[in-house]
Parts: sequence; C-alpha cells; structure tokens
Amino acid sequence: MASSNDCSVFLASTREWVDGVLETLVPSAATEPVSLHGAMRYSIFGGGKRFRPAIVRLVCREFGGSDELAARPAAAVELVHTYSLVHDDLPCMDDDDLRRGRKTCHVVYGDGLATLVGDALQPLAFEILSECEPREVVPDLVAVLARATGSLGMVGGQVLDIESSAGEPTPASVHKLQAMKTAAVIEAAAEMGALVAGASSAEAATAALWGKSIGLCFQVVDDLLDVTSEAAELGKTPGKDAALGRGTAVRVLGLDGAREEALRLAETARGAARDLGWKQTSIAERLLQFTLERTF
Ligand code: IPE
Ligand code: IPE
Ligand code: MG
Ligand code: MG
Ligand code: MG
Repeated sequence: MASSNDCSVFLASTREWVDGVLETLVPSAATEPVSLHGAMRYSIFGGGKRFRPAIVRLVCREFGGSDELAARPAAAVELVHTYSLVHDDLPCMDDDDLRRGRKTCHVVYGDGLATLVGDALQPLAFEILSECEPREVVPDLVAVLARATGSLGMVGGQVLDIESSAGEPTPASVHKLQAMKTAAVIEAAAEMGALVAGASSAEAATAALWGKSIGLCFQVVDDLLDVTSEAAELGKTPGKDAALGRGTAVRVLGLDGAREEALRLAETARGAARDLGWKQTSIAERLLQFTLERTF
C-alpha cells in the first residue's frame, strides 16, 4: 500500500502517462516492417520502472512546467534507455535472457533484429525531440541527449564496463564508468526537464547535478540488487556482474561500502535539491528514497 511518503503513486501515474505518449509516437505493430515494429513495441511496452521519464516530469514540474512540455523528452529518454537495454542484453554484451520479467528481445526475435531494434529506437528518440516545445530549446535538448548517450556518455561507459572485466577495477574507475553508462542519461533527463520548463542555464546545470547524483546512486543500487535480489523480484537475472567479472560498486567497495556510497550520493543529490529550493517533501526527495530502497 502506498504511503504519502513514497512515490509509487507518482511512478505509476508516470508509467500510464508516458506509455500513452509513446503509444502515439511509436509506429503500430501493423506498420511495415511488421517484424521490426513488433519487436520495438515488445521491448518498449514490456514493463520497466519509467524512472527516467519520471525524472523529466518531476524536474519540469519543479520549474513550473506542464506535463505536456515534459511529454516528448520523457518519451525520448525512455526510448534511448530501452535501446541501451536491448543492446546490453545481447549475447555479445551481457548475454541476458530475462529483462523486465520477460524474455529478452534477442531471445524472442533473434540477435539481428534485436540489434536493429536498438538502432531504430535511437533515431526515433531524436526525431521526437526535434518536435518539442518550446521550439527554441530544441537544439539544446538534442545536444544534451546526444552527448549523454554517445562515446563520452552511455556508450563510452558501456565500453569501460565491458573492459572492466579484463582489468583491475578501482573505486575511481567504477565511479567513472557508472557516471558514463548510467548517470549521464539520468542527468540528461533532469536537464531536459529543466530546459523545457524554461529554467535558466544555472538552474538547469544544478538540476543536471542533481540528476547525475541520483543517477550514480541508482547504478550503485543496481549493483547491490545484482548481488542481493532474486529474478522474480528483479525481473532480470541476478549474479550477472560477478559471472561476467564486471567492475561494480560491490566489487570495489563491498556490500556495506556500496550501501554507504549510495547514501553519500543521495546526500549530494539532496544538496543540489536544496540549492534549487526544492522542498524536503517534494517528489524529488521521494524518488531519491525510492532509489535507495527499491527492490527491483
Ligand atoms: C537498468 O535500468 C539498467 C541500468 C542503467 C541500471 P532500470 O532499472 O531503470 O530498468 P527498467 O527500465 O526499470 O527496466
Ligand atoms: C546497463 O548496466 C547500463 C546500460 C544499459 C546503459 P547493467 O548491465 O548493469 O544493467 P542491467 O543490470 O543489465 O539492467
Ligand atoms: Mg551491462
Ligand atoms: Mg546488463
Ligand atoms: Mg546491472
């Protein structure tokens, strides 16, 4: 049962909202090539917390913006995130067969089509961003998401993550790869929420810092859950990081150290929220609590 102190109601309403937006923006399963569009929709509409759309929406609200303004950047960031998951699960990457409680895209549709699903989700995200309002922030939105997902952001982080299996990861190297593979996109979600709402560049930069901190916290908790959770709850196979020998927060800090690190990152996010004048009772604070306490 949701208490007024958690954000499950906000997350549930965000899911319904962003799924409605995505429904209007993603080609139907009857659109040729039907195999591709069916596989894209399988991956997008197969669950997921919709954490990044929630970030866009709440930051936009904090700066006085409407859900309507947040809709396209929220859909765009979920599309690039879903593309990253489809590729992350491929046999040539993490080789996972369970995602969001269902078979992974490549298990159902084959490696070739799953690769192309990711390839198609990404430009769709940017097409959607190109039609955002207000028109004058579109170049900034495109630049923010492109930088966050490219070789200096998510994709670069995925490379460091893969390479961590062959090296001797340190707390600093793990922090760097997590900032790139996961936090960069969450940071971009926060910054885009601020930009569409008309925040100043200084405010958008502080919102981005908040997003980076909650994003880093999110990945440390992801590493913890990989060790402590079970497939039925997690919706993906636990134990993968150790099996792949990846550099994770748990590996370099231990379980207790990783928990402390998550708390420390949450404090950094709180500092940014205070600088922005966000209330202690805000959805931002509740999402931070969710990030620390989540079990899936
Ligand atoms: C999983 O992200 C991959 C990471 C970057 C940690 P999520 O935990 O947000 O996955 P979904 O979208 O809810 O399935
Ligand atoms: C995935 O990191 C990060 C991206 C997809 C960019 P993980 O490999 O830890 O994600 P999960 O645990 O498979 O969801
Ligand atoms: Mg991975
Ligand atoms: Mg993975
Ligand atoms: Mg993981």
